[in-house]
Amino acid sequence: MYECIAVASQKGGVGKTTTVVNLAASLAAMGKRVLVVDLDPQGGLTLASGLEPDALEKTVYDGLMKGYEIGALLHKTSFGADLIPANVDLALAEIELVNLFARERRLAAVLAGIRDQYDTIIIDCQPSLGLLTLNAMVVADGVLIPVACEYLAMRAVKGILTFIKKVQGQANSQLKVIGLLPTMFDKRTRHAQETFDQLKKEFEPKVRVLNTIVYRSIRFAEAAASGESIFTYAQNIPGAEAYRELAKALVRGEL
Ligand SMILES: Nc1ncnc2c1ncn2[C@@H]1O[C@H](COP(=O)(O)OP(=O)(O)OP(=O)(O)O)[C@@H](O)[C@H]1O
Ligand SMILES: [Mg+2]
Repeated sequence: MYECIAVASQKGGVGKTTTVVNLAASLAAMGKRVLVVDLDPQGGLTLASGLEPDALEKTVYDGLMKGYEIGALLHKTSFGADLIPANVDLALAEIELVNLFARERRLAAVLAGIRDQYDTIIIDCQPSLGLLTLNAMVVADGVLIPVACEYLAMRAVKGILTFIKKVQGQANSQLKVIGLLPTMFDKRTRHAQETFDQLKKEFEPKVRVLNTIVYRSIRFAEAAASGESIFTYAQNIPGAEAYRELAKALVRGEL
């Protein structure tokens, strides 16, 4: 199984944070020790974990920039994983990191001390390919790329794959692309199916398009708003099953 997964796409609103929460919840339900890291100044993962980002005094920013001990930054989530939260402070890190030595390895340094306490670490990236996302890809051994099954999906995928290639060549030769995870798939439209088919045609066999399709459901937004995973909120919707299957495939080492 991957020890550290970065969930990334420079496109906003494609289901990164939702994927981190529900994949982590599925793995935790299978008895795995999971840490999730919010690496987005928007704090979406922190919110979805039931915390108020702006009320937090210490966040991942303090670990990255001030050398805070990681244990002091940990929180418990309702879905069985531990969390290192983020808030708007993290926006400063993107600027402040620029002048630091080994600036792309700060997150790796922060996580080094606790890596062996977890079976897997899942990092929620912000929707850009800047220094923070680079930090995630340097510490990760796998990248999972959620792709919303709608117009313009393809362009964003090409961009992030080019970025990953550079990371593999220059900073982390161990990094693998786990695959493209189709999200927001609307069963009622032909457009979603077309986007999915197009994804396969364009990127396979070089990059795998995962068969675990996450169907569109308003329940995901509702679950996030109440700080829960989909499994405690509405576990029988078709979209939830995809995250369970994805977790199983990861544990079995099939991906
Ligand atoms: N399968 C789905 N069906 C319907 N809505 C979804 C689905 N997955 C996520 N959403 C909702 O879509 C919105 C965007 O999802 P999410 O926050 O996970 O995306 P993101 O890629 O993390 O966004 P950002 O780039 O802003 O961080 C949220 O309101 C979320 O609850
Ligand atoms: Mg997000």
